[in-house]
Amino acid sequence: MASDDLTLLILAAGKGTRMRSDRPKVLHPLGGQPLIAHVLDAGAALSARGAVAVLAPDSAEIGPYLEKAPYPIRVAIQDPPLGTGHAVRCALDLLPGHGTALIVYGDTPLMRPQTLLDLVQARVAADAAVAVLGMRPPETQGYGRLAFDNGELVAIVEARHADPVLLRVGLCNSGVMAVDASRLRELVEALEVHADRNEYYLTEIVALAHQRGWRCTATEGPWEDGIGINSQVQLAEAETILQNRLRRVALDNGVIMRAPDTVHLSVDTRLAAGCEIEPYVVFGPGVTVGEGACIHSFSYLERSDVRNGAQVGPFARLRPGARIHEGAKVGNFVEIKNADILAGTKVSHLSYVGDAAVGPRANVGAGTITCNYDGFGKFRTEIGEDASIGANSSLVAPVRIGNGAMTAAGSTITSDVEDDALGHSRTEQQTVPQAAARFRAKRAAGKRNP
Ligand code: UD1
Ligand code: MG
Repeated sequence: MASDDLTLLILAAGKGTRMRSDRPKVLHPLGGQPLIAHVLDAGAALSARGAVAVLAPDSAEIGPYLEKAPYPIRVAIQDPPLGTGHAVRCALDLLPGHGTALIVYGDTPLMRPQTLLDLVQARVAADAAVAVLGMRPPETQGYGRLAFDNGELVAIVEARHADPVLLRVGLCNSGVMAVDASRLRELVEALEVHADRNEYYLTEIVALAHQRGWRCTATEGPWEDGIGINSQVQLAEAETILQNRLRRVALDNGVIMRAPDTVHLSVDTRLAAGCEIEPYVVFGPGVTVGEGACIHSFSYLERSDVRNGAQVGPFARLRPGARIHEGAKVGNFVEIKNADILAGTKVSHLSYVGDAAVGPRANVGAGTITCNYDGFGKFRTEIGEDASIGANSSLVAPVRIGNGAMTAAGSTITSDVEDDALGHSRTEQQTVPQAAARFRAKRAAGKRNP
């Protein structure tokens, strides 16, 4: 999808006060990545020649996301934020004076590249000064309306200024505009401030173009693409739309999900054809699942790799750096962090394995804990092939359990166990005949502390 003379202009300097959050609006997460990253991804798919991002002065946290984009992004600072029109004004000196400036809002993350491309092409085909992407969302509150005269776009009217007829029938403004870059400066410099809000509205460049006899046009896109995030409610709505999209792609690719509505994905979740995801599984960012693997219900995974034929859960937690190799099994109430569970190894119940390599073909008994942290540093545990860790073992790292070695149930292992040896650290058991019967008799007689 190439569009040679296209520069993306991303407006992301607004305060986002309606989110009621200290976090910059465009860093709120959606599908496991911030809103701004979604917008940048769309730009990448369009092969934009470059982009300009308009940011508030205190936006250092946004920088790393801009650096990851596969095209150069220049930053214009808007201070103070005096509206979307003023934001574009701040960027004028960084924009080329030719081609199309595609203006997108940083708070409009679900825009698909094809929808944007259709808009750009409509502008070029009509030689329009401005092409606006319209939409018909079920909830129209807060969106500007497109006003037409004899089929030609003549203005965008903000909802609070629109008359009832326009509010009822008008197409809503998605916020996305493709503007002839050679005419953008004149239009934006002609904007006047709205005294009631002390803001310049970008939307008014349509009326300004019309006054100059310059043509404006509109396309209509799917409303889901244009959902703008101004509140936590809208963020949650956008998440629902995105999740449906992601699940649909996974199912089309041959992933087995019996209750897809209950599975939460991230945009970068990679699920192989033929893997199965049971109901109520959450994928944070950075997870891959291989062929024939199964993630059982109520599991939570992030930055982990589940390889072919592995089994995870139910009720498992995979934290960053968990690698569950071919055919390995991680069972219920097991947490794995920064560890390789090598092929054919089983960690079936109630365990914590962190900073470790286990197996292949090892068995880790119920309730095993790798004690990897001493309050200052993290230490590694190595468990060799075919090793067997007895239930309720505490493995105090750094420690190595050799190939074919065993630990006895209930042991606290503080030093290495060599290959094929048994590590054992329990106090000797004592059995006192009839002591239980004596205890019961005393309690029955009403005595305590027998
Ligand atoms: C805007 C449109 C409205 C449209 C809606 C679509 C205007 C005047 N209104 O309203 O017609 O239906 O988007 O979602 O444009 N921003 C800046 N600097 C500013 C103000 C805003 O960079 O001074 C950025 C924000 O970070 C945001 C975007 O511009 O990413 C839109 O601003 P917002 O305040 O959300 O506009 P809306 O009220 O949603
Ligand atoms: Mg908005």
